Amino acid sequence: MRKLIIAIDGPSGVGKGTVARAIAAELGYRHVDSGAMYRAVGWKALQLGVGLDQEDTLSGLATDSTIEISATLVAIDGTDITRAIRTPEIDKAAAAVARLPNVRAILVGRQRRLGLDGGIVMEGRDIGTVVFPQADLKLYLDASVEERARRRASDSAHSGPVALAEVATALKERDQSDSTRAASPLYAAADAVVIDTTGTPVADVVAQVMAMVRKLLMAD
Ligand code: DC
Repeated sequence: MRKLIIAIDGPSGVGKGTVARAIAAELGYRHVDSGAMYRAVGWKALQLGVGLDQEDTLSGLATDSTIEISATLVAIDGTDITRAIRTPEIDKAAAAVARLPNVRAILVGRQRRLGLDGGIVMEGRDIGTVVFPQADLKLYLDASVEERARRRASDSAHSGPVALAEVATALKERDQSDSTRAASPLYAAADAVVIDTTGTPVADVVAQVMAMVRKLLMAD
């Protein structure tokens, strides 16, 4: 059976990870959280005290780093940063390095290599538009900022403020940065299926997506 490339994009806190993980598990595909790569570069930049606008230094740092991403672990140069990258400080650092075209080019190259054989569900902001414009299925998940703040605040993997108003403000700032940057801003690809998940249980979203996947596989 053909092994698909499935791209899932959307703003922060929309539940891309939960949906992507569930779809990958059902299909026996690899799940890749591309945002973790930007977070890893942001984390290393802070460790080394590199300014987040130092594009040349940061793209050198991205080139020279080994980034490992599995279902349970994110590591850079062998250091486990799975939890360390889920903080408000790294939210900001990742958004800053994600604005830099030369850093993006390096990470996009790595993301494309992971998808060479198909059988992958990759989530991010530019997966359907830039990384895999040829993806078999492109999804763009959306939800109201209030709902996304609620989901983020109850996400135990993410440390930081739990006051909803604070989480919502931080989300809006990041959305603004991700969707207005010059390099690969967040938007839904013309051929993406847009799903508004506000008020929809995750299991229903997964079921909708699985129905689309089955249709695709049956058409082969
Ligand atoms: O999905 P996330 O919140 O972990 O992503 C971290 C940051 O990286 C966020 O500011 C968006 C950015 N990002 C990106 O620009 N492109 C991607 N494919 C994935 C994430």
